[in-house]
Amino acid sequence: MVLSFINKLKYFLFRWPVTLEGKFTITAVSCIILTIAVASWWIFDREEKLYIANAYQQANVLTETSRLTLTNIMVYNELKIMDNQDMIDYFDYYILNLSEKDPRIKCIAILDTHGKVITHKDINSLNKRYHDREFISAMKENKPVIRTSDKNDKILVITAPLNVSTKQWGAIRISLSLEEMHQRIDVLKQEIIVLAVLLVLFAMIIVKAFAKHLSKPIIKLSGTMNRIKNHEDMNITVAKGRRDEIGELEHSFYWLIRRLKELDEEKERTFEQFIQNEKLVSLGYLSAGVAHEINNPLGGVMLCFNRLQKYTAVNTETEQLVFGIDDSLKKMKHIVEQLLDFSRSAKAEKKYADVNALIENLLVLVGYEAQRRNVKITCEFDPDLGRIELSENKISQVIMNIAINAFQSMPEGGTFNIKTRKLDGKCRISLKDTGSGISDDILPYIFDPFFSTKNGQGTGLGLSVSKGIIDQHGGSIEVKTEAGKGCEFIITLPLDCKNGDTDE
Ligand SMILES: Nc1ncnc2c1ncn2[C@@H]1O[C@H](COP(=O)(O)OP(=O)(O)OP(=O)(O)O)[C@@H](O)[C@H]1O
Ligand SMILES: [Mg+2]
Repeated sequence: MVLSFINKLKYFLFRWPVTLEGKFTITAVSCIILTIAVASWWIFDREEKLYIANAYQQANVLTETSRLTLTNIMVYNELKIMDNQDMIDYFDYYILNLSEKDPRIKCIAILDTHGKVITHKDINSLNKRYHDREFISAMKENKPVIRTSDKNDKILVITAPLNVSTKQWGAIRISLSLEEMHQRIDVLKQEIIVLAVLLVLFAMIIVKAFAKHLSKPIIKLSGTMNRIKNHEDMNITVAKGRRDEIGELEHSFYWLIRRLKELDEEKERTFEQFIQNEKLVSLGYLSAGVAHEINNPLGGVMLCFNRLQKYTAVNTETEQLVFGIDDSLKKMKHIVEQLLDFSRSAKAEKKYADVNALIENLLVLVGYEAQRRNVKITCEFDPDLGRIELSENKISQVIMNIAINAFQSMPEGGTFNIKTRKLDGKCRISLKDTGSGISDDILPYIFDPFFSTKNGQGTGLGLSVSKGIIDQHGGSIEVKTEAGKGCEFIITLPLDCKNGDTDE
């Protein structure tokens, strides 16, 4: 409990001020405190001045009223309507009466022209002299003089001359207590301070909440980044709802994460592909070795067998055996040749050739097989194709492989369409059949070496060898198919094959 409190305190003192939320809150609250302090001081100063002005005004009114009354009495005395004693008695009465009515009056006195006290609220102060600066100034300038006495300015002293036209009688001095006004000012001060503190507290709460709300998505983003950094989680869901800059930032960030994830998956796929290719390369080397070792003795066996045939007694049974051995030897030779083709980069003779003519010649060879299988061959040749630099043997081998596959996919017969076209500066050969087509589950593997669906009847090297040859020519081979409806193999060759490595 204590430890958690200490940790919280440490966080609040050292970490929080440097966080986004902390920085924003501190800056905003400082600005608000400054504004509220200035505004409070300004309001207080204005109110205080108003109070003081009001007090001065009340003092002036009181003095003026008293002056009027007293000068009237003095005029009566002057006109002998009232004798001196009556006048003094009236002054005493007036002073006492006024003091009783207005509790703010601390002291009130009437002075003669020399500043001597004629009448005073306090009898003990009679005959005292107030020949001070205010008295002299009031008498000289013939107007009231106001000053504050007391160290705390809590008493207002007004000295006003008593005169009728040019005749001076003396002066009246009233001391008014400003205690009440100062009390009101103190209360106002307290009210303003309490209000300012409440406002600051309220602003702090609002600002902190707002800062938290603003920084929340950024904290979330930073948490997500940390998780990604530590490889804890890559399954990020996009937050919705914000349309401000933070929302845009969130979206960009999540887009980046998605891309990162895709790239990661792509990297994984590429790696798997790489491993697979490595395996194939090793298999290629192995096949090359085996094929090479078998090729020579096989050639010898075939030669010996051909010679042996001449000496063999001819009857039906031996004829069948000989035919069987001969057929199997040819098949073995074919497989070995295919393997060698697959594994070595062919050093093919390269020359300019007419692709249309090359295909037409080939059709003579496959025509018989097509007829036997009830396959109709149709051709659409582009006469503008021109001559292309290529290895006739190799390209013939590719077309032958594809044609034989096509025939095999149409056991009930069908149509095999060959189309050549010059497109975007490239030669495009389309070979389309109406056979069984290729299902989606095996489509990715048909160009893999040794992949075959022909249950031992095929080596599974035809298409992989063909792809190798087209690659060597700097071209590409692709397939479009729909199971049950047939296939279309599209070979694209550059019109200028110099970029290919046919020369190797
Ligand atoms: N035109 C086609 N129609 C249907 N399937 C095809 C077609 N062409 C190729 N395939 C499929 O692709 C596989 C691989 O073909 P590929 O030519 O490489 O080997 P293969 O024909 O089985 O054997 P080989 O060519 O040595 O006789 C075939 O087994 C077959 O399943
Ligand atoms: Mg084949």
